[in-house]
Amino acid sequence: MRARKIKNGIEAICCVHWERRLFDSLIPLPDGTSYNAYLVHGSEATALVDAADPDLSDDLMGALAGIDKIDYLISQHSEQDHAGLIPAVLERFPAARLICSEKAHDMLTSHLQVDSGRIQVVADGEELSLGDKTLRFVYTPWVHWPETMCTFVPEDKCLFSCDFFGSHLAASDLFVTDQALVYEAAKRYYAEIMMPFRRVITKNMEKLDGLDFDMIAPSHGPVYDQPQFILDAYRDWISARMKNEVVLPYISMHGSTAKMAAYLTDALAARGVKVQLFDLAVTDIGKLAIALVDAATLIVGTPTVHVGPHPAVYYAAHLANMLKPKLKYAAIINSYGWSSKAIEQITDLIPHLKVNVLGTVLQKGLPDVETFAQLDALAATVADAHKKEPDVATD
Ligand code: FEO
Repeated sequence: MRARKIKNGIEAICCVHWERRLFDSLIPLPDGTSYNAYLVHGSEATALVDAADPDLSDDLMGALAGIDKIDYLISQHSEQDHAGLIPAVLERFPAARLICSEKAHDMLTSHLQVDSGRIQVVADGEELSLGDKTLRFVYTPWVHWPETMCTFVPEDKCLFSCDFFGSHLAASDLFVTDQALVYEAAKRYYAEIMMPFRRVITKNMEKLDGLDFDMIAPSHGPVYDQPQFILDAYRDWISARMKNEVVLPYISMHGSTAKMAAYLTDALAARGVKVQLFDLAVTDIGKLAIALVDAATLIVGTPTVHVGPHPAVYYAAHLANMLKPKLKYAAIINSYGWSSKAIEQITDLIPHLKVNVLGTVLQKGLPDVETFAQLDALAATVADAHKKEPDVATD
């Protein structure tokens, strides 16, 4: 692992975690991830922006082996995948000051047991001179913790953004070389951890609009040397605009719910509504989260276990509620053996979704002609609602 130049006097140390497949014991990482730290060499002082995950200690500390002096270690975010190696870096460079936001001070002392005597808190907009380079700290709270900040180097038009604009993507490429690949990984990342904070991210984007940068260096995934691409993507994701799409997560025990979900998918498609169908028995929840970024409607399909929804549906409904996507509409389709309260229980699971419930279809046992007629009617109602909703693009 060696540092690589991204600008004159600025180097990236990309600790690439090729084999990692799960984050927070929750989030699937089909393409691995990376933890990027950045060396900023000024004429009078050197700073390291972020550290890395302790799992890749050898990578980060190996890249720093030839560095004589670090004056400032910048902690943009206190979560352990970036801050976990801060104690090791501070030990290796005993004169280094640890720079962080006001709210990060407590996190760094409690989560990492950093000596508070090493910490220097900076205010929003405060600058730190490295001689011929300046670090300007820009508070960007809730991407996705309350203490997060970006670091801007005006002389080099470089913005360090930590999680903000990041992508879980293991790559040997320093810069984005395949925009489609990075778009998918960045959208997955946004969906899983940024989407609940869409409104505050909008404010943070406005704040960044005032900065003149031509490079975004995140702490996950490749560096953006054409940052407009990811800025445009974020603007789209956080906007009110939705797609003429239904996300339909379902699970089936004996085939009835699966038949209903398949019929409804066909009925919606026939009316020009795109459907993303997820069998929760085999679904990558990251894919489900990505689909929720843009969709106008969520339709949940569940069989009945005892009298409630299948536990996998509980999980998916809770996840959707937690991620707070833009969704405007919802519906539930349910089959049961002898009794069901599944529809009421699912409705109770999604209080954060400000949706109009367009309908429910409840079926005892196998769907029949009457069930299919109800599903056709539901599909027509969804298509009609999408046409009337100004924020849904149906052309
Ligand atoms: Fe990449 Fe929130 O840590």
